[in-house]
Amino acid sequence: MRRREFLKGTLIASGAFAMTTVIPHKSMAASTYLDGIIYSKNNEGMWNGKSASHVPVIEINGNSVKVTTNHVMTQEHYIVRHTLVSQIGEVIGDKTFSPKDEKAISTFELPKGYKGILYATSFCNRHDLWLAETNI
Ligand SMILES: [Fe+2]
Repeated sequence: MRRREFLKGTLIASGAFAMTTVIPHKSMAASTYLDGIIYSKNNEGMWNGKSASHVPVIEINGNSVKVTTNHVMTQEHYIVRHTLVSQIGEVIGDKTFSPKDEKAISTFELPKGYKGILYATSFCNRHDLWLAETNI
Protein backbone atom coordinates (compact mmCIF):
# COMPACT_ATOMS: atom_id res chain seq x y z
CA MET A 1 0.00 0.00 0.00
CA ARG A 2 1.34 3.39 -0.88
CA ARG A 3 2.17 5.64 2.06
CA ARG A 4 -0.31 8.41 1.16
CA GLU A 5 -3.15 5.89 0.78
CA PHE A 6 -2.26 4.45 4.17
CA LEU A 7 -2.23 7.91 5.77
CA LYS A 8 -5.56 8.80 4.16
CA GLY A 9 -7.08 5.64 5.65
CA THR A 10 -5.46 6.38 8.99
CA LEU A 11 -6.93 9.89 9.08
CA ILE A 12 -10.40 8.62 8.27
CA ALA A 13 -10.05 6.03 11.01
CA SER A 14 -8.69 8.56 13.50
CA GLY A 15 -11.53 10.97 12.69
CA ALA A 16 -14.06 8.23 13.36
CA PHE A 17 -12.15 7.35 16.52
CA ALA A 18 -12.25 10.94 17.75
CA MET A 19 -16.00 11.17 17.15
CA THR A 20 -17.07 7.84 18.58
CA THR A 21 -14.56 6.63 21.14
CA VAL A 22 -13.96 7.78 24.67
CA ILE A 23 -10.30 8.65 25.13
CA PRO A 24 -8.83 7.69 28.50
CA HIS A 25 -8.24 10.71 30.72
CA LYS A 26 -4.50 10.76 30.38
CA SER A 27 -1.89 12.51 28.32
CA MET A 28 -2.04 11.36 24.69
CA ALA A 29 1.16 13.18 23.75
CA ALA A 30 3.06 11.21 26.39
CA SER A 31 1.86 7.84 25.13
CA THR A 32 3.84 5.87 22.61
CA TYR A 33 1.26 3.51 21.12
CA LEU A 34 0.53 5.91 18.28
CA ASP A 35 4.19 6.21 17.24
CA GLY A 36 4.43 6.62 13.50
CA ILE A 37 0.85 7.88 13.24
CA ILE A 38 0.64 10.93 15.49
CA TYR A 39 3.69 13.10 16.18
CA SER A 40 4.33 15.55 19.03
CA LYS A 41 7.04 17.78 20.51
CA ASN A 42 8.53 14.83 22.35
CA ASN A 43 7.85 12.30 19.61
CA GLU A 44 8.98 13.64 16.25
CA GLY A 45 9.53 10.16 14.86
CA MET A 46 10.67 10.19 11.25
CA TRP A 47 10.07 13.96 11.14
CA ASN A 48 12.98 14.74 13.43
CA GLY A 49 13.45 18.52 13.81
CA LYS A 50 9.98 19.38 12.51
CA SER A 51 8.05 19.85 15.75
CA ALA A 52 8.54 23.63 16.06
CA SER A 53 6.80 24.22 12.74
CA HIS A 54 4.11 21.54 13.14
CA VAL A 55 3.00 21.19 16.76
CA PRO A 56 -0.06 23.39 17.24
CA VAL A 57 0.21 26.14 19.86
CA ILE A 58 -2.83 26.36 22.15
CA GLU A 59 -3.75 29.71 23.74
CA ILE A 60 -6.66 29.99 26.16
CA ASN A 61 -8.44 33.28 26.81
CA GLY A 62 -11.55 32.76 28.92
CA ASN A 63 -13.82 30.50 26.90
CA SER A 64 -11.92 31.10 23.69
CA VAL A 65 -9.18 28.82 22.39
CA LYS A 66 -6.78 29.94 19.69
CA VAL A 67 -4.78 27.27 17.86
CA THR A 68 -1.81 28.34 15.76
CA THR A 69 0.62 26.30 13.69
CA ASN A 70 3.71 28.31 12.81
CA HIS A 71 4.10 26.79 9.37
CA VAL A 72 4.41 28.01 5.78
CA MET A 73 1.21 28.21 3.75
CA THR A 74 2.04 27.59 0.09
CA GLN A 75 0.31 25.56 -2.62
CA GLU A 76 2.95 22.84 -2.27
CA HIS A 77 3.23 22.74 1.50
CA TYR A 78 0.63 23.86 4.00
CA ILE A 79 -1.42 23.04 7.06
CA VAL A 80 -4.60 21.32 5.95
CA ARG A 81 -6.60 21.14 9.15
CA HIS A 82 -6.87 21.85 12.87
CA THR A 83 -9.09 20.03 15.33
CA LEU A 84 -9.78 20.70 18.99
CA VAL A 85 -10.88 17.65 20.98
CA SER A 86 -12.00 17.26 24.59
CA GLN A 87 -10.47 14.75 26.98
CA ILE A 88 -13.37 12.38 26.35
CA GLY A 89 -12.92 12.49 22.60
CA GLU A 90 -15.61 14.99 21.67
CA VAL A 91 -14.67 17.18 18.74
CA ILE A 92 -15.13 20.73 20.01
CA GLY A 93 -14.29 22.24 16.64
CA ASP A 94 -12.33 21.90 13.45
CA LYS A 95 -11.10 24.12 10.66
CA THR A 96 -9.92 23.18 7.19
CA PHE A 97 -7.42 25.53 5.57
CA SER A 98 -6.63 26.43 2.00
CA PRO A 99 -3.05 26.94 0.86
CA LYS A 100 -4.23 30.47 0.07
CA ASP A 101 -4.80 31.16 3.78
CA GLU A 102 -2.08 33.44 5.09
CA LYS A 103 -1.68 31.60 8.42
CA ALA A 104 -2.87 28.39 10.06
CA ILE A 105 -4.86 29.95 12.89
CA SER A 106 -8.21 28.76 14.21
CA THR A 107 -10.37 29.83 17.13
CA PHE A 108 -12.95 27.82 19.02
CA GLU A 109 -15.36 28.36 21.88
CA LEU A 110 -15.15 25.94 24.78
CA PRO A 111 -18.28 24.36 26.23
CA LYS A 112 -19.39 26.43 29.22
CA GLY A 113 -17.42 25.53 32.35
CA TYR A 114 -15.09 23.12 30.52
CA LYS A 115 -12.28 21.74 32.67
CA GLY A 116 -9.77 19.06 31.76
CA ILE A 117 -7.37 18.17 28.99
CA LEU A 118 -7.70 19.76 25.56
CA TYR A 119 -6.12 18.15 22.51
CA ALA A 120 -5.27 20.13 19.39
CA THR A 121 -4.18 18.52 16.16
CA SER A 122 -2.54 20.01 13.12
CA PHE A 123 -2.25 18.13 9.83
CA CYS A 124 0.45 19.06 7.32
CA ASN A 125 0.10 17.87 3.73
CA ARG A 126 3.72 16.70 3.79
CA HIS A 127 4.49 15.96 7.43
CA ASP A 128 1.40 14.21 8.75
CA LEU A 129 -0.53 14.64 12.00
CA TRP A 130 0.78 16.53 15.05
CA LEU A 131 -0.69 16.72 18.54
CA ALA A 132 -0.47 19.21 21.40
CA GLU A 133 -2.37 19.20 24.64
CA THR A 134 -3.01 21.40 27.60
CA ASN A 135 -4.91 21.01 30.84
CA ILE A 136 -7.29 23.76 31.92
FE1 LIG B 1 5.05 20.59 6.99
